[in-house]
Amino acid sequence: MYPFPTDIFTEPTDVDPDTLANLGPLRRLAGTWQAPKGIDLNPKAEGPERRQYIETIDFKPIDPQANGPQLLYGLRYHVHINTAEEDITFHDQVGYWLWEPATGLVLQTVAIPRGQVALASGTAASDADRFVLSSERGLTENGICSTAFLEYAFRTDRYQIEITFNADGTWSYVTETTLTVRGEVEPFTHRDRNTLVKVKDAGPNPLQQVLAARNKQAAPV
Ligand code: HEM
Repeated sequence: MYPFPTDIFTEPTDVDPDTLANLGPLRRLAGTWQAPKGIDLNPKAEGPERRQYIETIDFKPIDPQANGPQLLYGLRYHVHINTAEEDITFHDQVGYWLWEPATGLVLQTVAIPRGQVALASGTAASDADRFVLSSERGLTENGICSTAFLEYAFRTDRYQIEITFNADGTWSYVTETTLTVRGEVEPFTHRDRNTLVKVKDAGPNPLQQVLAARNKQAAPV
């Protein structure tokens, strides 16, 4: 049924510890990014609200991860969004972006402080300029879990993110979160889009830093 090995325990032994060198299509996301002009369309009682927002995203490389034979490289991310008009955080999100070099699988874990988590998946070539990931309520492989209130009032049926790397070194995303808002017949598409500019490069993953320090100590003076 699945193209998986029968030996589910043995981990690969020849793992390159340098995450930044093995991130495939995610390599260009590493670092800290900012953008002053995102556009959000969100659900409100009086009808959809459109807001301009200020966004910072930080992606830090993590050490290689092995699920038995499945080897993943990744970035831990934090999205923080504000608006010019209000001091309170407009949107906060944490999770991981993961890449499986052997299969081209790309995963994003999403956790937002509304009592909601999702696992979105897709595939991409290692040098892809564009890729799309999605998750759907009810699926276990790439699904969405929400608190009982959100299920009741703002049922989240689908989430999709499209990432595009631009020729000028920036990258853009479009996210579409399909919500069934209680009392409404048509689903609501909660849509966000933004283009981000790099403000800081990422340092190496923790293991790579340890190995670099050890090599420096061992080097003859
Ligand atoms: C991972 C993608 C996202 C998911 C799964 C998600 C989910 C949701 C859900 C379920 C709601 C309805 C709950 C409510 O109104 O209390 C909501 C509302 C809202 N979302 Fe999102 N969202 C996402 C991305 C974003 C982003 C990127 C922003 C900001 C740029 C944002 C801003 C808002 C705002 C302002 C509301 C209305 C809040 C309120 O009335 O209290 N969301 N979102």
